[in-house]
Amino acid sequence: MSFSALYKDYQEIVENWLDSVISKHLFQRSGIHEAMEYSLMAGGKRIRPVLSVAVCDMLKGDRSLIMPYATALELIHTYSLIHDDLPCMDNDDFRRGKPTNHKVFGEAMAVLAGDGLLNLAYEIMLADLTNEKNNGLKKAQTARLIAEAAGISGMIAGQVMDMESENRDISYEELCTMHKNKTGALIRAAVLAPAILLDASEEIRTNLEVYAENIGLAFQIKDDILDHEGSVEITGKSVGSDEKNNKATFVSKLGMDKAKELLKSAVEKAVEALKSIGNNDFLVKMAVFIAQRNK
Ligand code: IPE
Ligand code: IPE
Ligand code: MG
Ligand code: MG
Ligand code: MG
Repeated sequence: MSFSALYKDYQEIVENWLDSVISKHLFQRSGIHEAMEYSLMAGGKRIRPVLSVAVCDMLKGDRSLIMPYATALELIHTYSLIHDDLPCMDNDDFRRGKPTNHKVFGEAMAVLAGDGLLNLAYEIMLADLTNEKNNGLKKAQTARLIAEAAGISGMIAGQVMDMESENRDISYEELCTMHKNKTGALIRAAVLAPAILLDASEEIRTNLEVYAENIGLAFQIKDDILDHEGSVEITGKSVGSDEKNNKATFVSKLGMDKAKELLKSAVEKAVEALKSIGNNDFLVKMAVFIAQRNK
């Protein structure tokens, strides 16, 4: 099967889980339910949950084990986007091909929709890990990995640095730390979650860690490039946002050519890290896709 057909299959698995979250938790066609569903189902690429299911497959695990955690990651990611777009943060008007959440529902509801998605992620993980039929400790460790990645030593720390970098010249090292947290942390959690859940060997975890770190870096470099070279029609989100807000990005710091070189080398390192793990075809192609995507 081609990469794009496989990717579509993985996306479909994720969409089915999200549909079931909606029918169970977000069934009202108004108010907070509607605001949460609006952003969740607006057509994200689902990169993080797709990575989790694909790593689970590579490790020959049972997909149903990873799905509550993969779903939680997408809910957390969606909340982070709603808040990232708020007037007090990046102040953007388009996301996932539609007006941003606060443009439709107002700022207060957008804050609450983000809070609701974040909380629902933990509800879903806790409901799974308190199901005593299954292995509670590994599930708790997986949930902890995700909580730490989303929190003040992960994504939130990165968002804080991003806000504080506006109108400031930060060092290259600071820029890397910022992106490692802002974008890298959730991607790392998506890749490592199945390894923890399935109790993969130390060697596999170490290699997956290197893979995750490099696709996380590649992902953010490409995100910064698309903010310059992309269009709102294709990316589905506001472009030129970084320049408007005077953000420190890989493009502003290194220039376009160097940013592209760094992107290429990150993909090479990611691919190299998978070499010793068998059954890696999809994840190799995923690294290339992250660098070549146009949305
Ligand atoms: C965009 O993430 C935000 C960043 C973390 C840089 P994605 O490009 O994965 O956005 P969606 O989920 O496809 O909308
Ligand atoms: C935000 O980074 C990453 C998040 C944690 C949401 P950006 O501000 O660069 O993301 P986009 O470009 O708006 O999607
Ligand atoms: Mg931002
Ligand atoms: Mg933004
Ligand atoms: Mg961006």
